Amino acid sequence: MHNDIFSGKKIIFGVTGGIAAYKSCFLVRELAKRNAEVRVVMTPSAVEFISPLTFSTLSNYNVVVDTFPATQKDGTNTSTWHIEYAMWADLMIIAPATINTIAKVAHGFADNALTTLASALRSPLLVAPAADVDMYKNKFTQENINRLESNDAYIVKAESGELASGLSGYGRMADVNKIIDAAEIVLSGLKKDLPGKKILITAGPTYEDIDPVRFIGNRSSGKMGYAIAKAAFLRGADVTLISGPTLLTAYPEIKIISVRSAAEMKKSVEKELRNNDILIMAAAVADFRPLTLKSRKIKKEDKLTEIKLTRTDDILASIKKDGKIIVGFALETDNEKSNAVKKLKAKNLDMIVINSVRDKKSAFEYDTNKIIVIHNTGKQKLYPLLSKFQAANKILSEIISA
Ligand code: CTP
Repeated sequence: MHNDIFSGKKIIFGVTGGIAAYKSCFLVRELAKRNAEVRVVMTPSAVEFISPLTFSTLSNYNVVVDTFPATQKDGTNTSTWHIEYAMWADLMIIAPATINTIAKVAHGFADNALTTLASALRSPLLVAPAADVDMYKNKFTQENINRLESNDAYIVKAESGELASGLSGYGRMADVNKIIDAAEIVLSGLKKDLPGKKILITAGPTYEDIDPVRFIGNRSSGKMGYAIAKAAFLRGADVTLISGPTLLTAYPEIKIISVRSAAEMKKSVEKELRNNDILIMAAAVADFRPLTLKSRKIKKEDKLTEIKLTRTDDILASIKKDGKIIVGFALETDNEKSNAVKKLKAKNLDMIVINSVRDKKSAFEYDTNKIIVIHNTGKQKLYPLLSKFQAANKILSEIISA
């Protein structure tokens, strides 16, 4: 088993009064499922949307709504709960964060249980705003969001889409999975440390068509490349993902270019690399393709006994590097390090990541991966079994620190 960063982490989950509060149930449930200890604090308006009982059931802990809980009113319990919570937490998440709460936290107000707690916080703060389109766009809201961000809060920006009012535009709370990924970034001690970096990533297999219904493919799921794309985006990069056929989805802000064959992938990489600073080739590009593509379906009566193959172009070996940072992957079953070093040199790479298929839970289709990173300087590092998202963050950190 790899170490789940959420396991044992102490998280304060703040809920404010917006319709997106119903999605917070899924967030709290996911955090609890991943063995985080979650304590929920709600604003009085949040209670208009959803019952504290829902959150106390999901988090298996009392929910705080009143700044002065009943136990304190008769003087029998003088505990300063907000200080105790603030000192206890590894992370506070406010999701959804209304523009009202954002404004109050950004200016140090402490007029309800949630804002009082936020004012005493020692841990990192993650904020996922949600509002209707004009409220989100509002100049003061944007100033307040920027104020929080420049004071080290991690902001998971609202997404564009249909809103409760029937209007459409930016304001919808970010997808639950994206907020969880962002929380993982913050808990890992990471932040938006790739601001403005333009990163091109390839992912997935390529399919080399034999006839209109058949192809030669491979077992790559695309999970590693998608994890790198997501991690890079959450760390502030501008991400383009060239993806072979997969069923995976990325975030809406990631530009996805879908390709099928090695030739299509090569064309896209060549075109997109001009606008990017870094290329990470995580795709499992086919080395061979059928020599000819049959225009009609091959039938049994054709008595096919062989398919003649020819080499595809090696994308990494052939692209113009022009001073960009180029990272390759190597999937090896034997002599992994010496083979990878050979590829690093032959393809003139800055760094190569070995996917060690020796570990049962590594590489194809799994959510975990065991990687070895080798730089062109000779520096190497072997990582333990990690989730692909964790591995993605290690790879990005290795690139930045090189
Ligand atoms: N790669 C590429 N173009 C290809 C094949 C591979 O750009 N036609 C890239 C992959 O995306 C990966 C790296 O080259 O980043 C190494 O891929 P791998 O398949 O491990 O190595 P190959 O060079 O194809 O060698 P072999 O399959 O013989 O091990």
